[in-house]
Amino acid sequence: MKVAATTNTRERQEELGQFLTSSPVANFMASMFGPLPRTVRLLDAGAGAGSLTTAFVSRCCEKGDGVRAIEATLYEFDDTILDDLAATMIECEHRCTDAGIRFTFTIHSADFIQDISSRLAGDLFGTLPLAFDAAITNPPYRKISTDSGERRALRSVGVETSNLYTGFVALIQRLLVPGGQLVAITPRSFCNGPYFRPFREDFLSQLELRRVHVFDSRKAAFREDSVMQENIIFHGVKGRHQPREMIVSCSSGEQGDKITKIVSPFDEIVHPHDAQKFIHIPSSNGHASAKKTMDDLSASLASLGVTVSTGRVVDFRLKDALRKEPERGTVPLIYPCHFNGGTVQWPKPEARKPNAILDNAETRPWLVPSGIYLLTKRFTSKEERRRLVACLFDPYLMNAEWIGFENHLNYFHVNGRGLERHLAIGLYAFLNSTVVDQYFRRFSGHTQVNATDLRTLTYPDRDTLQAMGREITTLNLTQDEIDRLVTKYLNARQ
Ligand SMILES: C[S@@+](CC[C@H](N)C(=O)[O-])C[C@H]1O[C@@H](n2cnc3c(N)ncnc32)[C@H](O)[C@@H]1O
Repeated sequence: MKVAATTNTRERQEELGQFLTSSPVANFMASMFGPLPRTVRLLDAGAGAGSLTTAFVSRCCEKGDGVRAIEATLYEFDDTILDDLAATMIECEHRCTDAGIRFTFTIHSADFIQDISSRLAGDLFGTLPLAFDAAITNPPYRKISTDSGERRALRSVGVETSNLYTGFVALIQRLLVPGGQLVAITPRSFCNGPYFRPFREDFLSQLELRRVHVFDSRKAAFREDSVMQENIIFHGVKGRHQPREMIVSCSSGEQGDKITKIVSPFDEIVHPHDAQKFIHIPSSNGHASAKKTMDDLSASLASLGVTVSTGRVVDFRLKDALRKEPERGTVPLIYPCHFNGGTVQWPKPEARKPNAILDNAETRPWLVPSGIYLLTKRFTSKEERRRLVACLFDPYLMNAEWIGFENHLNYFHVNGRGLERHLAIGLYAFLNSTVVDQYFRRFSGHTQVNATDLRTLTYPDRDTLQAMGREITTLNLTQDEIDRLVTKYLNARQ
């Protein structure tokens, strides 16, 4: 395969979502297909320089599993890569000829979303929708705004989604014949993001998930965006009935690395009564035992009478009211940069963020009355050991009646007011424990923690949380100390 044109600037690559798959990963993806028909109509949407079709062809040539013909259809939008793509297809043709396989290809130099949506909607007079037995894809990844051409095109065929990659997958699913297979490498965000819920419903109602592969290490992520996405590879078969069991495999992402596999009941991947249809991915024993521990917990946040909300102060909307330093007429404004171990350090004059906000008629609706609140970061950095980072907001250090919580954090409260101290400290220990972190990682592949994620967790009951809270005399605890305490209380309940 030829290497992608080097004239592409990073910016252009980002706009096109052009992050090419390495050949070990492409080969691994091709190995995930199940038995194929004698003639395979193959789709490669967002084909780039053709590495995925090459891997598919290699697999068919090497495996000798009865494939006699491959009819490849490739979509690629970027003119500058088309020569490379065509050259790669000629190489595939030679390879197939040597192996006694007939290979034909069609390259559509077109926008996959617009072209396929028009075909599916019947707008292209005289053209039949395409039908495929197999699809392999590494779709572009980019947010698409509500009023964009892509969104309108997708909407016209009943697909509502906010990212190009889910748009690609949704259309590909529709092009598969019953029993047709899809292997895709995508960000993991669709598994739990609240905005992906309509996509998940659509996805799970059309595609039977047979296997999901995750990478242990973040370094194995092939693409990085501001929230440090993790990628997964999945293999699905067009059909309406999810299997009883699904394979979850895991590797470090390094070449030649050992692959571990576990088989999980599908009910544990997507919980039958979960309206959000989160896709949980248990990839290690730690994840599996965390799931068991969490399943045994009976309380929900709602049953504890507690709510979690996203910080209400959106700083750029209240710019004029922000102050670097506290002054007369202001109240504390808390950002994630004020997190300091288990507590809040305020003010932080050296921080780049403002420390205070004016308390006036304009800002008051966005403030909360002073009290004890539990705060969690909405975005953690990749250096942080845990996805969930919780700290206690204790107003004793600040002489203020109102507080501003900035939008990059979530806060736990009771009807807009503070929490009882021991309950808050118990929640602090629970949310910072390894068991919750492991459970969380089952369904979240990125470093973003949404309030919805926190709402759907199970929690220990109030008595247990308060007992934990009473036992903690300092919030300056090591991870081991937190884990020992939480494990002691959770085990005592059983
Ligand atoms: C993530 S890259 C993957 C390329 C290749 N399949 C691989 O795995 O190496 C996605 C490709 O999709 C192309 N692309 C982006 N938007 C597209 C669109 N709307 N229609 C067709 N191709 C598109 C990009 O130019 C890029 O080459």
